[in-house]
Amino acid sequence: MKKIIIANWKMKLTLNESLELIKKFKEKFKNFQKKEVVVCPSSIILDEASKLLKKTNLQVGAQNVFWEEKGSFTGEISPEMLVEVGCKYVIIGHSERRKYLLENYSMIHKKIKAVLNVDNLIPIICIGEEAEDKKTDKRDFVLVDQLQQALGGINIMENQQIIIAYEPVWAIGSGISIEPSEAEYSHKIIKLALNDMFGMKMINNNFRIIYGGSINSKNVKDFNNLENLDGFLVGGASLDVNEFYKIAKEIF
Ligand code: PGA
Repeated sequence: MKKIIIANWKMKLTLNESLELIKKFKEKFKNFQKKEVVVCPSSIILDEASKLLKKTNLQVGAQNVFWEEKGSFTGEISPEMLVEVGCKYVIIGHSERRKYLLENYSMIHKKIKAVLNVDNLIPIICIGEEAEDKKTDKRDFVLVDQLQQALGGINIMENQQIIIAYEPVWAIGSGISIEPSEAEYSHKIIKLALNDMFGMKMINNNFRIIYGGSINSKNVKDFNNLENLDGFLVGGASLDVNEFYKIAKEIF
């Protein structure tokens, strides 16, 4: 599968800082032909980001979405609106949203379904175990359970793309990524679970499995040759254009 790298800026920048960074990305990545590089800024800047990055190789993604098409849902943004604003990707179920916004797997499931219901919007579904799950040997169970709850019963069309981001919660923002062999192991578990749900053909054609959690330009080298890895979701290190560029260079 084609590799992908996604920058998740979370709520770490002001709008002016985001715009400045988008311009720097545009300049830095101008010779990056036909590579999948995605920037996920704050939702209120998606429109401007899409306009700035039009006709470049960079794509725009959102950090969240709501599951209904329209209605009395104060403060929410629909999948269709994201498409209208030029988004091609949307992060769903990030562990920070689960923690601070109490997003649960029923909500995540509905969001995935809603996103797959519109054309040309690719969900980036975040899953990953907590430190406690790892300590108590529940990691495999947690990953399979999260995948089943997120995707169980959803019909995926031949032309639809789905990205699963494996992000061990304890590695996010910690500065310490996990052992590459551990990532490889978890990615295999994810593939097995997806195989049970959708079959190998669909995994090969429709799914990409990426890693996220304290990736930087130094440790990315250790992950890059892993067999079951299709890319990275990068938080902290994506706020520095030179650092992010170095990571991207390692991948492509
Ligand atoms: P990090 O964040 O790279 O800062 O660990 C990753 C993420 O939360 O997606």
